[in-house]
Amino acid sequence: MRTQVGIVGAGPAGLMLSHLLHLEGIASVVLEARSRAEIESTIRAGVLEQGTVDLLERTGVGARMRREGAVHHGINLRFDGRTHRIDLRGLTGGRSIMLYAQHEVIKDLVEARLEAGGEIHFQVEAVRVEGITGTTPRIRFREQDREREIDCAFVAGCDGFHGVCRPLIPQAARRELQHVYPFGWFGILASAPPSSAELIYARHERGFALVSTRSPQIQRLYFQCDPDDDESRWTDARIWQELHARLENLEGWRLTEGPILQKGIVALRSFMVEPMQHGRLFLAGDAAHIVPATGAKGLNLAVADVLVLSRALAAFFASGGSELLEGYSATCLRRAWRAQRFSRWMTALTHRDEADDAFTRQLQLAELEYLTSSRAASTALAENYVGLPME
Ligand code: FAD
Ligand code: DHB
Repeated sequence: MRTQVGIVGAGPAGLMLSHLLHLEGIASVVLEARSRAEIESTIRAGVLEQGTVDLLERTGVGARMRREGAVHHGINLRFDGRTHRIDLRGLTGGRSIMLYAQHEVIKDLVEARLEAGGEIHFQVEAVRVEGITGTTPRIRFREQDREREIDCAFVAGCDGFHGVCRPLIPQAARRELQHVYPFGWFGILASAPPSSAELIYARHERGFALVSTRSPQIQRLYFQCDPDDDESRWTDARIWQELHARLENLEGWRLTEGPILQKGIVALRSFMVEPMQHGRLFLAGDAAHIVPATGAKGLNLAVADVLVLSRALAAFFASGGSELLEGYSATCLRRAWRAQRFSRWMTALTHRDEADDAFTRQLQLAELEYLTSSRAASTALAENYVGLPME
């Protein structure tokens, strides 16, 4: 087989890249380790920035999101027995966010690619990328017990944090920076009506909690936990008790309960690799960077990366110019570092760190007080939350 861009991984980064390249008239082949059913049902992120929403719509894959997603114009911060709304739209000159699950984005992108004759190989094994410092890298893989190979002009490593592509950048040429937090998020999906019209980020002495949503019937809730905790130790009754305790029944508000459909723990981590490119291998999304979930940036960063990459590849295939490709890493790292800063700040603002002393915890409250009483500080939160402009 031969293609212009070989893409490893059919997450948001890989699928969106394949879609954007197709619109530029560039051929690609996507290789995915998991089955279509699996990638279309894995529960992950839910907040799309304004720029992500605009891009999905502009490129013809936003119709179902527009019908079934929910636009939110604000978010709530809950702390010290009160709730404060951040008016995202008012503070950013009309920008908002969309609540639409990551696996729904995946379904829309897979459908669009397959309808346009795109090639996605699911359940491939033993993916090996060779020759990235030459001009025709090759990807070898196994598919239904057959060894196969694809010659490409470029390889996009969109294979997530545990993928095979990042380690292909020689150790001497790459720098990895990371911070591991002493907490994880316990996430549930519950069959219940929404408790709140907008998200609630709650800072509580017992730890952080977050009320999010998926649809009028399905709610998404999270609470800070020990990253090494075992979800089977949490009965449904205990989960609701913890959520009630952290969210409190403020001002007549009450969390609505319902059957828990799914539960799981994710660790919070900040990770960066520099540069995001080596030879003809370009990393995008979680393969290159992980942000703690508090800022809801992971999926949005993946989309921002591949927009930059698709434009750079389009310029190369149109004229042979490699200037944009050479700038890819620096361009994406600039945005990723800003997202790291914001996500870390949102995490520190709302989580309970057992290592913090009473002074530090009081400072956290002072920061929340300032944030919710100053228009300048609220604006800084809002402009980051809805997403800084795409390059
Ligand atoms: P991924 O979505 O990880 O996609 C990578 C794909 O590559 C996967 O489908 C994988 O199967 C495939 N792959 C891996 N290795 C290979 C290989 N060798 N060969 C072929 N294919 C391979 N962000 C938020 O903002 N909010 C959240 O609540 C949130 N929850 C999350 C929960 C979990 C469990 C995880 C892991 C992440 C979560 N994130 C969340 C982050 C967000 O989902 C990611 O930032 C986003 O998925 C990044 O997209 P991606 O395409 O870069 O990587
Ligand atoms: C969701 C996830 C996040 O990481 C976040 O900050 C807000 C909402 C969600 O899954 O709905």
